[in-house]
Amino acid sequence: MSLLITGGTGYIGSHTVVELQALTDEQDIVIVDNLSNSSTKVLDRLIQITGKKVTFVKADICDYEAMNAIFEQHKIDAVIHFAGYKAVGESSEKPLSYYYNNVSGTVMLLKVMAEHKVKKLVFSSSATVYGDNESPLNESMATSATNPYGQTKLMIEHILFDLAKSDSNWSIACLRYFNPIGAHSSGLIGENPNGVPNNLLPYVSQVAVGRLAQLQVFGDDYDTADGTGVRDYIHVVDLAKGHVKALQNLGKISGCKAINLGTGNGTSVLEIVNTFKEISGQNIPYKIVPRRAGDLATVFADASLAYELLNWQATRDLHTMIADTWRWQSQNPQGF
Ligand code: NAD
Ligand code: WQD
Repeated sequence: MSLLITGGTGYIGSHTVVELQALTDEQDIVIVDNLSNSSTKVLDRLIQITGKKVTFVKADICDYEAMNAIFEQHKIDAVIHFAGYKAVGESSEKPLSYYYNNVSGTVMLLKVMAEHKVKKLVFSSSATVYGDNESPLNESMATSATNPYGQTKLMIEHILFDLAKSDSNWSIACLRYFNPIGAHSSGLIGENPNGVPNNLLPYVSQVAVGRLAQLQVFGDDYDTADGTGVRDYIHVVDLAKGHVKALQNLGKISGCKAINLGTGNGTSVLEIVNTFKEISGQNIPYKIVPRRAGDLATVFADASLAYELLNWQATRDLHTMIADTWRWQSQNPQGF
């Protein structure tokens, strides 16, 4: 039996592969990735961490022939689908590229899965689908999106719900991630954005390591304790373990189920900066600038459904998240 991981050389995918490899020797792991936002160096690092090999196929999920060949050559049992573009700002500049890659790519993957009667799927969704609902965010709230990236996640969720309704053999977990940060405790794999980071943690860690001069804090006039934005940061290893639990519990899920993966706690931008400074011992210069368009004051999860359905909850605290981020960044100042 094999498990197909799309986008498996990326940030969250690679950490999930480590957790899956720790589980069993009986299941082969096949990664498909077009390397548009990752490197084959990840594969060597995975072997260093786990001592096990994975099968890697360099291919695009939009390529029907290539995807079909993978299902012909391997007895795929289930799929975890990470592959996609994820930069919110870029999605407004290149909407067609986002709709094609994320939505058409997923439709292509689902078509090939259906043809090969593989109907177990774990999908990377995002808390972005909650739009401007008030936190804590729970899975029964109405969904909406404010940018093309968010629209792609929402469209894919709708497609998955419709698909599961049309055929009761599908079991699908739509995991809505909050803000993944941190890295594997070995410091061998971690987040490695191309160009200037859009997200807070890679930005702060590149300032700490001296690659960037100064952080811009987007607004200190929000209705939060210190005026800066509050988010639900979750350790990427906890997130990875959530995928393992989702996969193990797919049998209990009939149809398609949306499930939050968050901690249920909020942390402000300045708390992140101060904790990072303390742990790294580095100075982190910052400047308060106006709010970033589209940002909300406070976003955090109601994480109770994941506990009820999957017996999963995040266990790593902010200190661990930041210590692991710093270990990865200081050991790999230029990334992979
Ligand atoms: P990432 O960019 O590190 O990983 C995505 C991987 O998919 C990359 O290795 C990339 O090369 C690959 N890929 C992209 N398009 C592809 C295609 N057409 N065919 C084959 N491979 C392709 O991103 P990540 O942070 O690991 O995110 C993984 C998933 O989780 C994404 O779907 C993302 O939208 C979702 N997500 C991420 C976050 C976050 O903050 N990191 C939050 C919520 C949801
Ligand atoms: C966090 C906080 C910023 C950068 C995004 C996507 C979301 C999901 C996760 C994929 C906010 C502040 C940030 C900086 C700052 N991705 N900030 N200076 O916006 O919560 O979520 O990533 O699905 O869809 O929207 O994460 O890390 O960008 O921001 O002050 O240079 O840090 O204003 O309060 P966000 P983020």
